[in-house]
Amino acid sequence: LGLEVNVDYVAAVALDLSGNVVAVETRPVSTAGRPPSARELVELATDVRADLVAGGRRVVSATVAVPGLVAHDNRTVSWAPNLGWDGRELAAELEHAFDGDCPTTVDNDANCAALAEASHGVATDVVDSLYLTGTIGIGAGIVRDGTLLRGGSGFAGEVGHMPVGDPAAQCGCGRMGCWEASVGLRAMLTAVGMDEQSTPLQTATAVAERAVDDERVRAALEVLGLDLGRGLATLAAVLDPSAIVLGGYFVPLGQFVVPAAQAVLAERLPTAQLHLPEIRLSSLGIHAAALGAAEHALVDVFTGSLAL
Ligand code: BGC
Ligand code: NA
Ligand code: ZN
Repeated sequence: LGLEVNVDYVAAVALDLSGNVVAVETRPVSTAGRPPSARELVELATDVRADLVAGGRRVVSATVAVPGLVAHDNRTVSWAPNLGWDGRELAAELEHAFDGDCPTTVDNDANCAALAEASHGVATDVVDSLYLTGTIGIGAGIVRDGTLLRGGSGFAGEVGHMPVGDPAAQCGCGRMGCWEASVGLRAMLTAVGMDEQSTPLQTATAVAERAVDDERVRAALEVLGLDLGRGLATLAAVLDPSAIVLGGYFVPLGQFVVPAAQAVLAERLPTAQLHLPEIRLSSLGIHAAALGAAEHALVDVFTGSLAL
């Protein structure tokens, strides 16, 4: 079972032991006026499990994709800035909700999505790729030589908090000038003057529809594409990825932001770089992180010591 918790939605994807999708569900979460809890995540997880059990299946392993920094133990959320979670023992909470019979791990959302894109999405033909989430927060999953780059503390890829955004924009992490405060979902909505819908996909689809016949919306998205491109040029100068995969809200808005971002890459990267990284749109869509989490759970079944 793969789960995803985010600021404005929770999602679940279940796979059978052959990797076929047997359940998919997304639920909007309204966080207005209260700090996000794990309640909706636990409800979704236990509901999906109950449905699977009613259908004669058993859930033997789960992974939760979270919008934050996950410790090397794959159990603790060290810090999820946009959720306000700090040192949360999320794996243990889920295991408790599963009555102690479903071992659970936790991983960063962008890392999960990056693995899913590299194994059967749009990054299967390259061994060095960068996946970028398009949610309220911005995060990266860096695949290097076919393996996820973890870093010394397990926190590699925290690109949303690089100080390359508008210095006057306040980030959910409390600081000013973070990249996600300029190119995250809420920053995009402020730029186009529109409101959030119940899910990120609905929000992005509504903006894309408006952009078709509203010149000002298209202009705002182009400015956002330039900001996106500047951050990507910084990352590409360090990592030299063969492909950059944009996920989440960037997918429906691709035609309005990618040309500007790709132009910045062409302009800012060293001219000797023979192959400019190609910006691609995720083929796994809004469920990429939950799907990657489910694959993580499946790997745990076959490589770990889980008793079936
Ligand atoms: C978090 C990252 C996360 C990203 C996307 C950022 O605010 O720090 O860990 O990957 O949002 O959810
Ligand atoms: Na990451
Ligand atoms: Zn920040």
